[in-house]
Amino acid sequence: MRELKTIDEVNFKGRRVLIRFDFNVPVKDGVIQDDERIVQSLPTLNLVLSKDGIPVIMAHFGRPKGEVNSKYSLAPVAKRLGELIGREVTLLGDVTSEKTYEKIKSAEPGDVILLENIRFEKGEEKNDRELSKTLSKFANVYINDAFGCAHRNHASTEGVTHFIDDCYAGFLMKKEIDVLSKLKKNADSPFVVIVGGSKVSSKISVLESFLKIADKIIIAGAMAYTFLKAQGHEVGKSMVEDDYIETALSFLGKAAELKKKIILPSDHVCADKFDASAVPVEVSSVDIPADLIGMDVGSKTLADIKKAIGGAKTVFWNGPAGVFEFDNFAKGTNEIARMITSLKDAKTVVGGGDSVSAVKKSGLSDKIYHISTGGGASLEFLEGRYFESLTALYARVNRRKLVAGNWKMNLNKSEGLDLVNHIKENADVQNAEIAVCPQFPLLDCVAQALNKTQIDVYAQNINENDKGAFTGEVSCDVVKSVGVSKTILGHSERREYYGETNSILNKKLKKAFDSGFDVILCVGEDKVRRKLGSWKKFLAFQLSNCLKGISPADAKEHLTIAYEPIWAIGTGKSATSGDAEEAISYIRSRLARIFTDKIAEKIQILYGGSVSPDNVDEILRQKDIDGVLVGGASLSKDKFMKLCDAAASL
Ligand code: 13P
Repeated sequence: MRELKTIDEVNFKGRRVLIRFDFNVPVKDGVIQDDERIVQSLPTLNLVLSKDGIPVIMAHFGRPKGEVNSKYSLAPVAKRLGELIGREVTLLGDVTSEKTYEKIKSAEPGDVILLENIRFEKGEEKNDRELSKTLSKFANVYINDAFGCAHRNHASTEGVTHFIDDCYAGFLMKKEIDVLSKLKKNADSPFVVIVGGSKVSSKISVLESFLKIADKIIIAGAMAYTFLKAQGHEVGKSMVEDDYIETALSFLGKAAELKKKIILPSDHVCADKFDASAVPVEVSSVDIPADLIGMDVGSKTLADIKKAIGGAKTVFWNGPAGVFEFDNFAKGTNEIARMITSLKDAKTVVGGGDSVSAVKKSGLSDKIYHISTGGGASLEFLEGRYFESLTALYARVNRRKLVAGNWKMNLNKSEGLDLVNHIKENADVQNAEIAVCPQFPLLDCVAQALNKTQIDVYAQNINENDKGAFTGEVSCDVVKSVGVSKTILGHSERREYYGETNSILNKKLKKAFDSGFDVILCVGEDKVRRKLGSWKKFLAFQLSNCLKGISPADAKEHLTIAYEPIWAIGTGKSATSGDAEEAISYIRSRLARIFTDKIAEKIQILYGGSVSPDNVDEILRQKDIDGVLVGGASLSKDKFMKLCDAAASL
C-alpha cells in the first residue's frame, strides 16, 4: 500500500513551511463571493501555526498569464484569511526579489506570509526549474494542499518538490485523494454517476472509466445531444460535437456489452435562441424540433433520474444538466442538487463548479458526503491519470510498482497494437506503473496508441552518438521524434551478443540523459559468478562503471535499475524472491555510495528473469523490489494483465 505522507507528526517548530493552497476563489469588485476554498485550507494552516511553524503560502488566482495584474491580486484573500485565523497576513509581492527573500528569512513563529499570485511569475505554468529553486529557498519543508491544481505540473506544485526533501500532503489533499480513491476502487454499490456539461470530448475518458466501476450512468447537459444524435434522434439546433458521434456510439456499445445502464434525456426544455432572456419551451419527446435548441432536461427526465438514484449507495455528480448560468434553464441542475441532497443512505460526492454551486444554492450542502474542491482535478483523478505533482508526497515504502514488458525481438505491428490496446482498456494505471518496450519500427504506432495514457513506452536500446554513419543504429533524436523518450540500456542480451561494455553503456547513458531520456539500466551476474559467490563484486563493478560521471539529479529523476541475473532470463528458473531482494538491496546500497542515501532511496529497482503470474506476487511483495522487467510473460495479454493486476493490488 502506498500512502500520502501527512503532517500530523511533523515537527514544524521554528521552521519555515512552504505551503501551496488553492485560493482561486470567485471575486467580484474586490469582494470574495465564496470563501469555501480558504476555509478548507484552515485545518492545515492551523496545524502548522499551532506547532510554531512559519507558513509561507503560495496560491494562484485567475489567469494573469505570467504578468503582474492588480485585477488578480491576492489582497482580498490575504484579508479574508487574516479574518478567519485572527492574525495579520503579510502579502509579499515580487516573489523572486531579494527584499522578499530577506523578509521571509526574518519571519518568526506567529507570522503568516502569503506570496502574491504565483501566476504573476512567467515560470509558474511553465514549471520553470529556476522559479522552483527560488521558491524552495524560502523553506525546507513543503506541504501541497492544493488538490484543485494537483493535475497541473507547475513550479509551485510539481517543480518545487525536486528541491525540497521534506514534502507532505495537507489535510485537504489527503481527504480528496482518499475519497476519490475509494470511489474508484471500492465504492459501495449501487453506484450511480451523473455527468453533465457541454462537451463529450472533455468527458469521454471519465465516462469510459465509469463504465468499469459504476452501475448506472446518467448523461445530461449539452453533451447528451451528441449521444441522442448518435442514436438517430432529432436534436434541432442543439449543440452537437459531430466529430464525437462515433465515439458516443462506441461508448453506448461498450455499455451495452457490459450491461451497464445509461440514462439519457427523454424530454427537454428548449429555446429558440441561446440567450438568458429566451423563453423556455417544453418538448415532451426525445426528438427536438428543427428550430429549437436543447437547454435543459425536462420533467420526465428528472423523474427518470430520481428513479435511477433511488436506492443508490454511492452517487457521483459532475457537470450541470442544462444551461445553469441562465436562470430560465437552471431548473434541471437545481433539481438534481435537491435530489441528491435528500438521499438517505447514499454517500454523495460532487465535483465541478456549477454542480457545486447548485448544491450550495440548495442550502443542503452539509448533506453531501464530499464536495470536491477540484472539478478538473477530480475528473482526471477518477479517469486514472497519474498526478506527477503528488509523487514526492508519497512515502518511499509506497512507491508504485512498475511492470515493464520487454518484447525483445517479438510481436509484429498488429500483434503489438492488439496487446497495447488491451492493456490500455484494462490496466489500473493509478495503482501500478506500466510500460512496454517494443522493437524500433513499432515505437511510433505504439506511442500513438498510448498517447494521453499513463502507460509508458521504452525503446530497447539507443546509440551513443548524435547522428551520422552508423548503419543499423538508432539515435535518441529519432526515437524522440516519434514521441518516445525512454529506453532500456545494457540488457544482458546486448552485452553478450553485441559486445556492449560498461564503458559503452556509460556513454549511452550520458547521451540518453543529455537527450532528456529516462533509462532502465540492466545489470546482473551470470551463473558462474552466482555459484562462486562473486556476484556482489560483479554488480558493484557494473554499477560503478556504467554510472561514472552521471549526475545525482539525472540518477534521481531519470534512472531505473533492473537487476536481471543472466541465469534466470528465459530459463523459467526465476531467482527466489529472497535472492532477488538481497541482490536488489545490495544494489541500493551501492547506489547510495555512488550518489547519496536519499538519492538511492528514490531510484526504482526492478527484478527481471522468468517473471510469471505464478511468482510475481511474491517478488513484488519484497520491500526493496519496485517492479519487474518481463520478457516472455509480457507477450501474452492474459499473462501480462495478471502481472499488472498483481502490481496494482499491492
Ligand atoms: P524473461 O522474463 O523471458 O525471463 O526475460 C527477462 C528479461 O530479459 C526482460 O528484460
